[in-house]
Amino acid sequence: MLKVENLRFGYVPSVDIFKDVNFTIHGGEFIAIGGKNGCGKTTITRLLMGLEKPTEGRMYYNGADITTMPPSKRGQFIGYVFQQPDRQMFRSTVAEEVAFGPESLGRSKEDVERIVNDVLHKVGISHLREAYPPTLRRGEKQRVAIASALAMESSILILDEPTSGQDGKETKELLALLRQLHAEGLTILLITHDMEIMAAECTRAIIMGNRTVAFDGTPEALFTKTADELHDLGLTRPPSVELSLAVPGLGYCKSMDELRRKLLAQLEG
Ligand SMILES: Nc1ncnc2c1ncn2[C@@H]1O[C@H](COP(=O)(O)OP(=O)(O)OP(=O)(O)O)[C@@H](O)[C@H]1O
Ligand SMILES: [Mg+2]
Repeated sequence: MLKVENLRFGYVPSVDIFKDVNFTIHGGEFIAIGGKNGCGKTTITRLLMGLEKPTEGRMYYNGADITTMPPSKRGQFIGYVFQQPDRQMFRSTVAEEVAFGPESLGRSKEDVERIVNDVLHKVGISHLREAYPPTLRRGEKQRVAIASALAMESSILILDEPTSGQDGKETKELLALLRQLHAEGLTILLITHDMEIMAAECTRAIIMGNRTVAFDGTPEALFTKTADELHDLGLTRPPSVELSLAVPGLGYCKSMDELRRKLLAQLEG
């Protein structure tokens, strides 16, 4: 549904950040975007949002060429949670912030009110509707940004390292929300350095490296590569995978929960 073809980009035209980037994102995927610091993960999502223009290449959404479509229009199908979500909030209450999208689409006052109520409830921040966005915690700001995307009925949600710097509880709660939204049909693109999240939550991983896409496939295909191959990609195996591969006959385990279940079954059997 969202296809990029031969994308090339440099902030300075003479220095490519990446080139020959090709991938297609299908509805219902939960994709991790990974790779070393500075390899271009944020940049590629900025291109998808239309915040930067590619030097070469084209982008398509459901077959239509969107290469030159402005970000405001792309907001109808792609929502974005910035690494610093306060940079994307401009209105004086959470409810007004979330209302901005549907208002700009010309929805009626009643529709906007219903939409705002629905999406705030869905992401669990109804109690914050009158709060001033800059005073919120980062996890709450992320939810405001997610609610704004849902209010636009975006089919794709991009999140830039939403769990970095979060405590364990906040991370768990955000992942539970993303899992729920994914189960309801939202396509998710998650930029992350967290190997455990990549393995446990995602259906596919796109790893940037050497100025292009260095890997594109399932987390299992990724994390069963050799340690040297993973090192070259700037990755390491998450503990559940490392342990599961060390126990004969256990098979690949994408999470500690799965490892525990399989180990218990092996002990009992
Ligand atoms: N506005 C900018 N102007 C010039 N160069 C930039 C700009 N933003 C990023 N870069 C450079 O482009 C490259 C890719 O940056 P980008 O932020 O996309 O990487 P990243 O993979 O998201 O990194 P990180 O893991 O640190 O978030 C880096 O070398 C970075 O220094
Ligand atoms: Mg980044």
